[in-house]
Amino acid sequence: MNLDEILKDAEREFAAAASLPILDQVKARYLGKSGAIPSQMKTLGALPAEERKAAGARINQAKDQVETLLRGRRDAIQAAELERQLAAESLDVTLPGRGEAVAGLHPVTRTMQRIEALFASIGFEVADGPEIETDFYNFTALNIPENHPARAMHDTFYLEGGNLLRTHTSPVQVHYMQNFMKLAGSPQAFLSPSGGERHEAAISGGESLPPIRIIAPGRVYRCDSDVTHTPMFHQVEGLWVDESVSFADLKGILTDFMARFFERDNLPVRFRPSFFPFTEPSAEMDIGCVICEGAGCRVCSHTGWLEVLGCGMVHPNVFGHVGIDAERYQGFAFGLGVERLAMLRYGVDDLRLFFENDMRFLKQFA
Ligand code: DAH
Repeated sequence: MNLDEILKDAEREFAAAASLPILDQVKARYLGKSGAIPSQMKTLGALPAEERKAAGARINQAKDQVETLLRGRRDAIQAAELERQLAAESLDVTLPGRGEAVAGLHPVTRTMQRIEALFASIGFEVADGPEIETDFYNFTALNIPENHPARAMHDTFYLEGGNLLRTHTSPVQVHYMQNFMKLAGSPQAFLSPSGGERHEAAISGGESLPPIRIIAPGRVYRCDSDVTHTPMFHQVEGLWVDESVSFADLKGILTDFMARFFERDNLPVRFRPSFFPFTEPSAEMDIGCVICEGAGCRVCSHTGWLEVLGCGMVHPNVFGHVGIDAERYQGFAFGLGVERLAMLRYGVDDLRLFFENDMRFLKQFA
């Protein structure tokens, strides 16, 4: 078979090979051990010596041509395969997405924002404090001395090294008043935390301190877990300190807040005497049951009343710990549970729903 025919056949067969495995089979027929080109090489021995060199060169040239044809065909097959793959897997980035999920705020977050907005509307600022606390801020400064039974009632998570996870937001009162007094006691003019006005330093006597009017929302922790308790939950603390803040102010502010929070114009309220170490007198506030309107139901244990917060007049010992003159200033404080208010407002009957992250539940608030 002459070399031109071999080349022509190779070109035709390579062109007909539709895939790489088939191309490899065809290749073996031309370049493999007993393929057409090596077979030609074997015929060289039979030629007269003077013709061998020229014949050998021609065969080698033919071999190069076969290899070039092969490479060309292999590249073409690979390009075609890539093309096919790209077409099959093509991605149209202009298509609309699958289901456009709308993000929403968690009901507890919504409730805190609602509480913040209502208090902001009457001049309360939002204050913040650490979740890891010292014994002093969580207890001692709040007039809960060591070995006081109130400490045991708090189911505290203690951390290595003696710190603890705050069991309530009340320590923010102490941080805030301490910082406030640091600013007030500094020799420079004092910039009110409520912004704007300037006040000369005045701890006792002389010019008055500006009022303190804050709420402090945040996470608190107790080593407690059952149907109505989770180890982490949220509280909002409130504090108003001024020269003439009275228990009547406390009642007015909190009554108005609850009526606006639950959107009930004539929401019944009552204040029952209670005990908290950091307030004197102390009270617990009840509102008329917003589920049954006072008729009696499971949520209010058939009493018609719901307990919603603890409150009272700031104890002089708390003022003592932060250097505020208790003879001149007085204030009220309160602390409420955010999950409790959220459950009542949204009609949620199981606390755990807030922490299970079940989208069917959470979507209802989006
Ligand atoms: N810190 C209290 C608690 O977690 C709640 C509380 C009661 C806060 C009375 C107050 C208050 O500021 O005056 O049980």
